[in-house]
Amino acid sequence: GLVTLKEILENTRKEGYAVGSFNFNGYEDAQGIINGAAEKNSPVILMASMGACKYIGLHQTVGMIKGMAASVDIPVCLHLDHATDMDYIKEAIKAGFSSVMIDASAEDYEINIQKSKEIVEFAKDYHCSVEAELGKVGGKEENIVVSDEKATFTQPSDVPRFVEETGIDALAIAFGSVHGFYKSEPKLDFERLAEIAKITDCPLVLHGGTGIPVEDFKKCVVSGISKINVGTEFKKTFTDTIRKMCNDLPEKEVDPRKYMGPVKDACAEVVKGKIDVFGSANKA
Ligand code: G3H
Ligand code: ZN
Repeated sequence: GLVTLKEILENTRKEGYAVGSFNFNGYEDAQGIINGAAEKNSPVILMASMGACKYIGLHQTVGMIKGMAASVDIPVCLHLDHATDMDYIKEAIKAGFSSVMIDASAEDYEINIQKSKEIVEFAKDYHCSVEAELGKVGGKEENIVVSDEKATFTQPSDVPRFVEETGIDALAIAFGSVHGFYKSEPKLDFERLAEIAKITDCPLVLHGGTGIPVEDFKKCVVSGISKINVGTEFKKTFTDTIRKMCNDLPEKEVDPRKYMGPVKDACAEVVKGKIDVFGSANKA
């Protein structure tokens, strides 16, 4: 069965690795991500945005990932990414997600605490973990758009009370990463990250993994990041692969598997590369 986020992140900090959390939008990318992780004998988190869940269907999403997880020998966590709708989050928990993110980072501190805590309380009756966000990661993630001016770094002093009162299993923090493609070189505030890691044992999450250089990823992991989210790179891999395959396709070839199939291998390759950097190979 699926494992919770709490379970999959348990040894990350003390053993010095992070678990990759990868966005999928359909069958091919999801299966490719799982295949790549299985080849590396690594735990893996598959995450679906609310948009992806609505596209695939909530129950279809759970059924598909449970089926895939049952055919491999690695821990697999199914996570709902960046959800703002309280009712939808509860539906996802009831449907069988083993982790959800309540993203109330746009609200003020007290409301963020209240909403995050409400989801933690609800999830207690289910096999499900909760991630919340403090500070605002800039850029564009589905329908959540945060302008450069509105993006704010996480205040270390806000962290202890937030973690304690909400009871969350993982905390997304903002220290310079951006959702989507980077407009310029990412500048991460590693001192802030280290300071936050020092004051809390709560597993920390890096959002906006697409475009972050290998050396920065490694620094994030040694400084206390336990979960690394990568989304846009998979969208790009999916689309680039199909674009290329279809361009090369003979006119009489009509089998969708001919051009959709390679998406699985392309996504698996991306995952294997990330796992090598995050240090989660053979941690299954
Ligand atoms: O929650 C999803 C991630 O933070 C994705 O960010 O699309 O920039 O890789 P990314
Ligand atoms: Zn994110």
